[in-house]
Amino acid sequence: MSEPQSIYLSDYRPPAYRVTHTELSFDLDPMATRVKARLHVERHPERAAGEPLELDGEQLTLKSIAIDGQPLGDDEYVLTERGLRVDGVPERFLLDTDVEIAPKDNTALEGLYQSGGMFCTQCEAEGFRRITFYPDRPDVMATFSTTVVGRSDREPVLLSNGNPVERGELPDGRHFVTWEDPHPKPCYLFALVAGDLQKVEDRFTTAGGREVTLQIWVEEENLGKTDHAMASLKRAMRWDEETYGREYDLDLFMIVAVNDFNMGAMENKGLNIFNSAAVLTHPHTATDAAFQRVEGIVAHEYFHNWSGNRVTCRDWFQLSLKEGFTVFRDQSFSADTNSAPVKRIEEVSFFRTAQFAEDAGPTAHPVRPDHYIEIGNFYTLTIYEKGAEIVRMLRNLVGWEAFRRGSDLYFSRFDGQAVTIEDFVACMAEASGQDLDQFMRWYSQAGTPEIDAHGEYDYANGAYRLVLRQRTPATPGQPDKQPLHIPIRLGLVGTKSGRDLTLTLDGEYLGQDGVIHLREEEQEFLFTDVEEAPVPSLARGFSAPIKLHFPYSREDLAFLQTHDSDGFNRWDAGQRLALLALDDLIAAHRNGVEKVMDSRVVEAFRSLLNTATDDKAVLAEMLTLPSEAYIAEQQPLVDVDAIHAARTFVKQSLAIALRDDFLRVYHENVSEAPYAPEPEQIGARSLKNVALSYLVSIEDEEGVELARRQFEADHNMTDVRQALTLLVHSSRDDLADPALRAFGEKWAHDPLVMDQWFSIQVSRPQADALERVKFLMDHPAFSLTNPNKVRALIGAFAQNRINFHRLDGEGYKLLADVVIELNRLNPEIASRLVTPLTRWRRFDEPRQELMKGELERIRAEKLSPNVYEVIEKALA
Ligand code: PHE
Ligand code: ZN
Repeated sequence: MSEPQSIYLSDYRPPAYRVTHTELSFDLDPMATRVKARLHVERHPERAAGEPLELDGEQLTLKSIAIDGQPLGDDEYVLTERGLRVDGVPERFLLDTDVEIAPKDNTALEGLYQSGGMFCTQCEAEGFRRITFYPDRPDVMATFSTTVVGRSDREPVLLSNGNPVERGELPDGRHFVTWEDPHPKPCYLFALVAGDLQKVEDRFTTAGGREVTLQIWVEEENLGKTDHAMASLKRAMRWDEETYGREYDLDLFMIVAVNDFNMGAMENKGLNIFNSAAVLTHPHTATDAAFQRVEGIVAHEYFHNWSGNRVTCRDWFQLSLKEGFTVFRDQSFSADTNSAPVKRIEEVSFFRTAQFAEDAGPTAHPVRPDHYIEIGNFYTLTIYEKGAEIVRMLRNLVGWEAFRRGSDLYFSRFDGQAVTIEDFVACMAEASGQDLDQFMRWYSQAGTPEIDAHGEYDYANGAYRLVLRQRTPATPGQPDKQPLHIPIRLGLVGTKSGRDLTLTLDGEYLGQDGVIHLREEEQEFLFTDVEEAPVPSLARGFSAPIKLHFPYSREDLAFLQTHDSDGFNRWDAGQRLALLALDDLIAAHRNGVEKVMDSRVVEAFRSLLNTATDDKAVLAEMLTLPSEAYIAEQQPLVDVDAIHAARTFVKQSLAIALRDDFLRVYHENVSEAPYAPEPEQIGARSLKNVALSYLVSIEDEEGVELARRQFEADHNMTDVRQALTLLVHSSRDDLADPALRAFGEKWAHDPLVMDQWFSIQVSRPQADALERVKFLMDHPAFSLTNPNKVRALIGAFAQNRINFHRLDGEGYKLLADVVIELNRLNPEIASRLVTPLTRWRRFDEPRQELMKGELERIRAEKLSPNVYEVIEKALA
């Protein structure tokens, strides 16, 4: 096979031929499924006559091919590794193909595959070409009619997109169902599911009066785990009507849970397929975080019905058109149904850790990339989360009302079409009358902008001068960057009054919480009529995906942590304060000097623990120290051991100093009420469990006993998992080992709980974590072909910073071994799993060498395009 080639956005052309209607018939068999396709093909009006018909197709065995009923001889078409070409086709014709595929051998989980005993599909981005020969690109949209034939005993349930229109029995114990989907769609939204499934059913009446049947299909043992997903679905449907005026457009909406799935879930038209981890919940098996994740993903996939399906992407460079917008929509939904400030804190802490790292590494790419080798590598935090931040900025720039008008315009103008990011932004510009030309650079420029800010108060004139300077670091292929249009929401907090002062800029009154627009490389903002000396509170709510540096003193930060009217920035001030203290301790550790705890941090925590609050979830976040990964992000060169030692020191110092406060907060938040995944309960549980983590970190006898009892009480998985994690991550193996054993035996039958059991063990800081990984890879519940298991065991270990980065290189070696194996089995998972190694340049010399050595060892293999692309970038 030749070296994988790049595809360029600038090469885009409409397809030579389009398909208006697609008829499929599947005769299911694990080793020899037959797929017959009849495509209604016509020349694209913008393309010249006489061009060859080129169809994508991979791993298909062609049995026959005919045009307008005339079979083609072997010399009338050309078959390659990538597809099929036919010269001299008419302007408009019927193409019939018949192919054979082997779903049972499909470990890549793209196309038609088997998960347990059931058949299912995953077509985004380019999986449909593994089902039949087709123009596998999103700008070819057709109506689909699909007949599925299966064995009545083994596959009593046969599902596809749209509505069932016919069903019947066939000889030899087989049966069939025909499905029709009236909405034209690209083939990446095609889906088929067949197996022995049970359903839970509900109904929803749309605002327009359509009666919709809602079904969640699961294996029988999971019937008791669908309530939360169903309730979330109904909430999401109502929310999209009320917030965006979007209604559902079919009589049936189905969700199916499958155990083997590469991602979270997939928005196939009318038939969403979910990783079981993203849909199944039960108080005894799923944590609060899992409940919230399920709600968010159910909503996300549902919202795609408009932002993605009715209006889709012209080409895969536009992926963020549907993903950025849909993530923004699901984030807004979750903020409306949960504690909004805590949602934002969670989003941003994740974003600043993981997306910033991506944007600063060798795979950095713009939200709209201009070239790629394998699109599967571009389902990234940049496309999804940074894309959502851009949409959020747009919403804030034009205001909600204009944004909603722009959204309405977008959906009505482009309904049934495959469009571009420009089309979306143009609707926002048109609806708001704003010029968004400079703003578009957010889509084409990679890297995280860094803003250096400083300001001074002019006592004589009562003015505050704020100077902002922006700079986006070079990223691969983009050495020079242009200034972006960056909205900075801010307040000036009076140091005497502790209140937001009024903002007057160039004679214009901005209120007490205003937005300034940074467009130049350097810009000065002069606020007048500022009555007292302020501390600026900048980029409130994380108003742009930037790194903002301001020379705050620790006193400033302690002040903002108590007085900022913006909840997000109150939290952020605490994080900045902790980071300054951590910096000192990291330096102390490196220099071998005694570590001394900053008393300002202790006092800040003491006051948090002793101030009444009505949002316990936010308080829990404020009591949580920046993660090792986030601390690492702030360092020019990552010193894994110093970071771990410094953070542990801060945590334990706080626990020692505030032991009684933590104990009290724990007891105040214990509740016997029946579990409900509701904001108030979730907040109390997080607060209690954060307090417990401090107590167990110093192995306080009473704290350890509380953890043991919390585990034994077995009230809900959130509490059980936290207690077990704390014990396993402490040195109390006398308590941890029996607890782990009991938990493992109790849940041996439940794969989603076993995933948690794996993760808890391999993320422990003790030196035996790596040995545990190796041991657990032979556990009967582990499997390399199940992505959830790989993530739970190998992925979780790679996040275990001190053990993955062991100086003997064994952690790196283990990851590389698994990547090499997965490169053959499941390239998409392999190329994601290798990510931590690609960040080698961030570490010290010895680790750099070790990591690079493993990347080179991987490079010597015969690589899938997925892994090839990532490794080449990492070593470039
Ligand atoms: N489009 C899916 C989503 O974001 C993600 C996905 C991509 C799933 C590729 C499978 C394969 O909702
Ligand atoms: Zn999505």
